[in-house]
Amino acid sequence: MSEFNITSDEIESYCKNHSTPPHPVQVDLTQATLAFAGEAARMQVGHLEGKFLTLLTRLMNAKTVVEFGTFTGYSALAFAEGVTSDGRVTTLDRDPKATSFAREYWNQSPFGSKIELLLGDGHQTVNTLANEIASGVRPQFDLAFIDADKAGYPIYWEACHKLVRKGGAILVDNVLWSGAVLNPSDRSDFVIDHFNKLVKTDVRVEKIMLPIRDGIFLAQII
Ligand SMILES: C[S@@+](CC[C@H](N)C(=O)[O-])C[C@H]1O[C@@H](n2cnc3c(N)ncnc32)[C@H](O)[C@@H]1O
Repeated sequence: MSEFNITSDEIESYCKNHSTPPHPVQVDLTQATLAFAGEAARMQVGHLEGKFLTLLTRLMNAKTVVEFGTFTGYSALAFAEGVTSDGRVTTLDRDPKATSFAREYWNQSPFGSKIELLLGDGHQTVNTLANEIASGVRPQFDLAFIDADKAGYPIYWEACHKLVRKGGAILVDNVLWSGAVLNPSDRSDFVIDHFNKLVKTDVRVEKIMLPIRDGIFLAQII
């Protein structure tokens, strides 16, 4: 079983083989990220989760998406493909190298011009965005995707209640943490398990935890 996949490699392959393939730029980006980042390339959401993000965004008719954790830009491209033709994906990361690598591939994609990158610490950027929304400079987002530092998940989650409109969605990645949430032993396992309990008891959302790749929370603000 691959490190981040909850299902077996065979099931993962079968699912991929029966799904629409990713856009060719995403295929190139996946290969290039392996050469660029080595082992860290597994942080990318990849083909199956990426297609899920694109379809969910399109089915919601979402115009605006905010993403916490850009890395080399795969999931940002997935959202950019799904938003409306006048839509925008605002993605946050503090890593200048990974995000300039991302830009190279966004520039090759027909959807890349819909992506706005906010470079800097996510905990500060999230406050800037909340202030911009509160002062009417920006409308609330239709959809948020949390995929940055795991210890920061509760902060991003709380911020999403200001950033995302009522009826909109919050997605959170890696909530099964390779299955370690079943028997937490190290600090990161407890961080994710604690966060999952926080979402479980949050009555402001209706939610479902999905065993796609490393686990995704899908929540709607009610
Ligand atoms: C799991 S990766 C994101 C993967 C991306 N969604 C994709 O599909 O390719 C997490 C990213 O969060 C970023 N990150 C971690 N801590 C951060 C922080 N405090 N502020 C902003 N970005 C942060 C890292 O630089 C890394 O690029």
